[in-house]
Order: sequence, then structure tokens, then C-alpha cells
Amino acid sequence: MFFDFQLPPLMKVKAVTVSAAFFLSGSSLLAVDFKKDVLPIFESSCAKCHMGGNAKGGLALDADKIMEAIGEAGSIVPAKAESSDLIRRITMKDGGEDVMPPKSKGLGNSDVRAIKEWIDAGAPLEGEGMVAGKAPAPKAPQPLRGDWTNVQGKTITATLLRVEGDKALLQMPNGATYPYPIGQLSAESQAKVKAFAESAAP
Ligand code: HEC
Repeated sequence: MFFDFQLPPLMKVKAVTVSAAFFLSGSSLLAVDFKKDVLPIFESSCAKCHMGGNAKGGLALDADKIMEAIGEAGSIVPAKAESSDLIRRITMKDGGEDVMPPKSKGLGNSDVRAIKEWIDAGAPLEGEGMVAGKAPAPKAPQPLRGDWTNVQGKTITATLLRVEGDKALLQMPNGATYPYPIGQLSAESQAKVKAFAESAAP
């Protein structure tokens, strides 16, 4: 990864904070996919001035240029939506003079939320993406619900659906599943995964 992951300071829901830290410290899996969830918003609301050769204020939001705006001094500060100028501008209330798009009330709530989540996830441009709600049907053995700790000492409660190569397929309480690198788990959690995998062997 090209950035130092840090927890956003203002995350309100503790459970979300914990699982974000858990997953992001060990893998590049994301809750929001840039190309699927964020780029279309920029395309519909910002393209006229910030894409396809337009870079008002020096800002280009095209998929192949946006990385120049991502960084501690950029409009997009990875993992810190609340300190990102881009978020400040799209959430301005009553037509402040910096508001984006100009002379608007800023973006709609769901668009803002998607962009914030993406930034808080570190503003990654590539990733396998999350497969929310599309957990493959688990095969035997029975899914194992429990606490999982990673090498950084973060613990989450999730259901181990199955083992795929060197990944443990974990399902979060919200239904999202993540292939988590087993090597990133604590020794104790690795042992649990191993026992689970062995019980699955014919
Ligand atoms: C009608 C043209 C127009 C549209 C549409 C527009 N912008 Fe802008 N944007 C500008 C102009 C002009 C500036 C430079 C002046 C300024 O800084 O306010 C700017 C500047 C910015 C900056 C500051 C760049 C910097 O580094 O100083 C950000 C961030 C930004 N826009 C984000 C957005 C986003 C996100 C959208 C879509 C939701 C958007 N803009 C839509 C015209 C536009």
C-alpha cells in the first residue's frame, strides 16, 4: 500500500472502526470500490470542470489522474475524510463560495457518504473490492462464528465460512464477506482456522 493506514479520528460507530482497522491493517480489501462507487459520482457531477482535460483549480478527477490529488497535502487525504478539502467542499451547507459543484448545495447525502467511506478506507484506486451480501454458499463444515484476532492485535467477531488457499473467508455481521490472509492472523486464530480446515477435509 502506498499510504500509512491510520484510523479516521472521527469514526462514530465503534464496530465499524474495529472491523475497518482489522481489515485494512492486513489487506487491501475495501468497503467502497473507486471505479464502481466513486468514479460515477465524479463523472456525473464534476466531469465538466475536473475531467477529460478539464482541471479547474488544478484538480483532475479522472481515474488515471486523480492520484495526484491524493495525499497529505492533496484535496483527498487518505483515511481522513474529515480533513479532506474535497469533502469540505461537497458538504458545504448554504452555498459557501468554495462549494463544489459551484453554486450548488453540494452533493446528495448518499454520494457524500460513498466518497467519505472511500477516503476513510484510504482512497485506494485498485482493489479486489468487497463482495457485500454475496457470500458464496458455504460448504461443509458448518460456518464457525467466533472472535478473530490479527497480528496487530485487533479483534473482530465474524463467521468463518471456509478456507480458500491462504485466505480465510470471513463473514461480517452485516453479511459482507472478506477473504482474509490467514498469515495476517494471530497464532491462536490461525490455529482455529487450521482446525476448521482440517475438519473440512474429507
Ligand atoms: C462548473 C465547474 C465545476 C464543477 C462542476 C465542479 N468544480 Fe470543482 N472547481 C471548479 C473551479 C473553477 C475550481 C477552482 C476555484 C476554487 O478553488 O474554488 C474548483 C476547485 C475544486 C477543488 C479545489 C482544488 C484545489 O486543489 O484547490 C476541489 C477539491 C473541487 N473543485 C472538487 C470538485 C468536485 C468533487 C466536484 C464534483 C462534485 C466539482 N469540484 C465540480 C469548478 C467546478
